[in-house]
Amino acid sequence: MELDGRVAVVTGGTRGLGLTIAREFLREGASVVCAARTGGEFKTLLDDHPGHVRYQRADVTDPDSVEALMTSAVDAFGALDVVVANAGVNRDGRAERLAVPDWRVMIDTNLTGVFLCTRAAVPHLRERGGAIVNLSSIMASRPTVGAAGYSASKAAVEAFTRVTAIELGRYSIRVNALAPGFLDEGMGRAVSRNDKVWEAYRRRFALGRVGEAREAARAAVFLASDEASYVNGSVLEVSGGLLWS
Ligand SMILES: NC(=O)c1ccc[n+]([C@@H]2O[C@H](COP(=O)([O-])OP(=O)(O)OC[C@H]3O[C@@H](n4cnc5c(N)ncnc54)[C@H](OP(=O)(O)O)[C@@H]3O)[C@@H](O)[C@H]2O)c1
Repeated sequence: MELDGRVAVVTGGTRGLGLTIAREFLREGASVVCAARTGGEFKTLLDDHPGHVRYQRADVTDPDSVEALMTSAVDAFGALDVVVANAGVNRDGRAERLAVPDWRVMIDTNLTGVFLCTRAAVPHLRERGGAIVNLSSIMASRPTVGAAGYSASKAAVEAFTRVTAIELGRYSIRVNALAPGFLDEGMGRAVSRNDKVWEAYRRRFALGRVGEAREAARAAVFLASDEASYVNGSVLEVSGGLLWS
């Protein structure tokens, strides 16, 4: 098993992609703390992995809440080895009309949330080295009308990932980003489950299909595991091959 004995925190690990990442981590032998503001579908993990998974209420925009989250993982499972900063939100809107609260919630959650997770996790991760996986998106590097706030937040996550990778290497903490395309879970459903919208996007993807959340989660397992022991500061795109220019 790729993550046997590891302890992981997955923010947004209660539904969508985060829930699938938590499930794959558990299958690979990790103990997992799933964090979000609500329990979501977290309970679906309990039956198969009793004693190895717990829910911690946390808001990634709140520094105290994030500190308590990282400490709770150590208290529950004795250490912290992996953080998947997955919690995210999207609010569509052209920049000229995007409401300020919508802009702020994307930056606060997608970017400041990643910063707060890193800051709170490092004192624990540096005990025995570890890995951070930050969630980006193909939208970080591809201009799409209506995605200014979301794209900006994710592009900043990629820059933050590259900087922290070189800052934290001395503690044997690797930092990478995962950039999925459109998945069959979570916010990707708005595209992938709408035939008309998907038809407009489909030809841009070399494999001509949406991704399964599990396919992105397997990439998170790889980045978190020793199989990626020399992968640091990378952005791994899991999009089925994007033809967008
Ligand atoms: N699904 C895709 O196709 C896709 C593609 C590319 C990138 N991504 C990225 O993958 C990540 C997960 O997306 P998803 O599609 O799975 O989204 P989702 O289904 O909407 O789930 C988002 C998760 O984040 C949590 N969350 C939101 N705000 C939070 C906060 N302030 N504090 C703590 N938790 C918070 C939510 O729980 P609560 O609301 O209960 O807090 C939920 O568990 C995001 O970063 C997204 O940008 C997804």
